[in-house]
Amino acid sequence: MLDEARLRREVGESSLGARLVCLPTTGSTQDEARRLARSGAPHGTVVVAGEQTAGRGRLGRRWISPAGAGLWFTVILQKGPESSFLPLLSGVAVAEALREVPGASVHVKWPNDVLLDGRKVAGILIEADSTTALLGIGVNVNLDQNSALEPWRDPVASLHEVSGAPLPLEPILARILHSLDEWLRLAREEGPAPIIMRWRELASTLGRRARIVLPRAVLEGVAEGIDETGALLLRMDGGEQRRIAAGDVIEAPRG
Ligand code: BTN
Repeated sequence: MLDEARLRREVGESSLGARLVCLPTTGSTQDEARRLARSGAPHGTVVVAGEQTAGRGRLGRRWISPAGAGLWFTVILQKGPESSFLPLLSGVAVAEALREVPGASVHVKWPNDVLLDGRKVAGILIEADSTTALLGIGVNVNLDQNSALEPWRDPVASLHEVSGAPLPLEPILARILHSLDEWLRLAREEGPAPIIMRWRELASTLGRRARIVLPRAVLEGVAEGIDETGALLLRMDGGEQRRIAAGDVIEAPRG
């Protein structure tokens, strides 16, 4: 369970998390955050839950969020010009924060998954309306390897594998909020360029053959790059380049 006093201490002066709402259990922090945003909760409010009983992933999937096994939280953000590249920015910010765990080999995977040793350790769900973005982040910290995100999906990773012992949640959440704060500031000052550059350095997807699963089609080609909105540029086997705004990348075997 999260120690709220410790969390507040660790978050310190960060502008994200200045207002923290800690819930022992909730359906989804996204829904809780939406309700708070509608009743006037300010930019930077963070809703964090010990467990979620109806955690949501991208593309309508469930997100398993057992008590004490990870960080399940949503940051309320007022939209600005930087919101168009929030998917890339948030992936970079989370990956950078998790890289501070000694020995963790962390990468990003399009669109905004974070991988530990090639397996998914964190996922990001952004739900936005015209004024507000709800940035939902789930990080497996002390997750039992037997509880998968979805039974048919690839095995997931958990940060405690690296340390070999359970890790305290509060410092990791504070590090992610500080990292997000820093990358958002950079984005406002310098635009998307530094984020795109860092995303490319951290990426495990680019330059490789990829299979993209879309709701009604599967595309195959080489993942050549990303544009500043975070869309993937896929060179199809026929030579045509496609710009893909949303989907799931599955690496395809070579040949
Ligand atoms: C994904 O990779 O599919 C995105 C997963 C996002 C999970 C987080 S946990 C906190 C927030 N509340 C939710 O219901 N989902 C996000």
